[in-house]
Amino acid sequence: MIRRALCFPSFIRKSLLIPPVISPYSNSSSKIGAYNGYASQTSSLEHFGHGQLNPYGNIHLSPSAAVLNYGQGLFEGTKAYRKENGQLLLFRPEQNAIRMKSGAQRMCMEAPSVDQFVNALKQTALANKRWVPPPGKGSLYLRPLLIGSGAVLGLAPAPEYTFLIYASPVRNYFKEGSAPLNLYVEENFDRASRRGTGSVKTISNYAPVRTCIPDYVPVLMAQLRAKKNGFSDVLYLDSATKKNLEEVSSCNIFIAKGRCISTPGTNGTILAGITRKSVIELARDHGYEVEERAVAVDELMEADEVFCTGTAVGVAPVGAITYQNTRMEYKTGSGTICQELYNTLLGIQTGVIEDKKGWIIEID
Ligand SMILES: Cc1ncc(COP(=O)(O)O)c(C=O)c1O
Repeated sequence: MIRRALCFPSFIRKSLLIPPVISPYSNSSSKIGAYNGYASQTSSLEHFGHGQLNPYGNIHLSPSAAVLNYGQGLFEGTKAYRKENGQLLLFRPEQNAIRMKSGAQRMCMEAPSVDQFVNALKQTALANKRWVPPPGKGSLYLRPLLIGSGAVLGLAPAPEYTFLIYASPVRNYFKEGSAPLNLYVEENFDRASRRGTGSVKTISNYAPVRTCIPDYVPVLMAQLRAKKNGFSDVLYLDSATKKNLEEVSSCNIFIAKGRCISTPGTNGTILAGITRKSVIELARDHGYEVEERAVAVDELMEADEVFCTGTAVGVAPVGAITYQNTRMEYKTGSGTICQELYNTLLGIQTGVIEDKKGWIIEID
């Protein structure tokens, strides 16, 4: 195995040259600063060198980089929030670090340590502080990426890895009064298969071809097709039986009946969302019974409420689901469990509700 010497500068550039952002609080693709770290393929995770802050820009990759040829890549997503006093808050960033580490193991990749990951997040958020929207207006989305950047021709793990983070301001996913989600249950093709990588946040899960119909349809296309037909997103079923709920394209799903909340268990085919885990804990604190188990698609007929959880959406109400030409509608709005949990979670994330769980890291 080729071991590359690490020769990456270990300084943090003090003043960032930030290119102009047209609409700082928009949901646009303006990304404004990046943190890079590199590792050679060695036996120790500590071989990630110190990263550096750079203005957002293109990165150089060999055409034979493992990520380009064999999809050896992972990503994460988290947000920095601005508190009323100006301080920045990160929500459970170590959970993203841990998830990236376990994903890296599955993908035969080297990963930064939890400390390296969290420090890089802090630095990137702080360097972009002026782009963090005011309280109530949005947040700074932080996107850590781990890629097999080393060149490799035959199928094998990359000899070198790059870890970087970029950032973009985003507005609240749901504007006041915006419509609840309108989901479509996809039966023709799958997001993940048993013993596959559904539980890993790998880049190769998001535009794959996994279909059981002859005219193959990539998953991204499923989402686009659903949107074209007026749906907000696709709800996937398990690939083995087509009887149980899995998750939505980029968020987890919950159903509520009375004071009982159920969500599919993390059995390897769905992503173990950090919001999911937090919402389960908050719901139990609020006195709800929460079950993690196989949730039959037929249970959608009986549910009072359905909601989704994820970093992007927070806790999002589902107003309707269409399954086999039947449209089912659910309670949304004031007085719902979804709204109660949304308010609690966002309150903690933005420092409005006291964090008694040690979930928040204050930076600056
Ligand atoms: C497939 C999938 N499921 C669920 C989630 C929600 O995970 P989290 O709550 O950690 O953002 C995401 C987003 O990261 C996702 O991509």
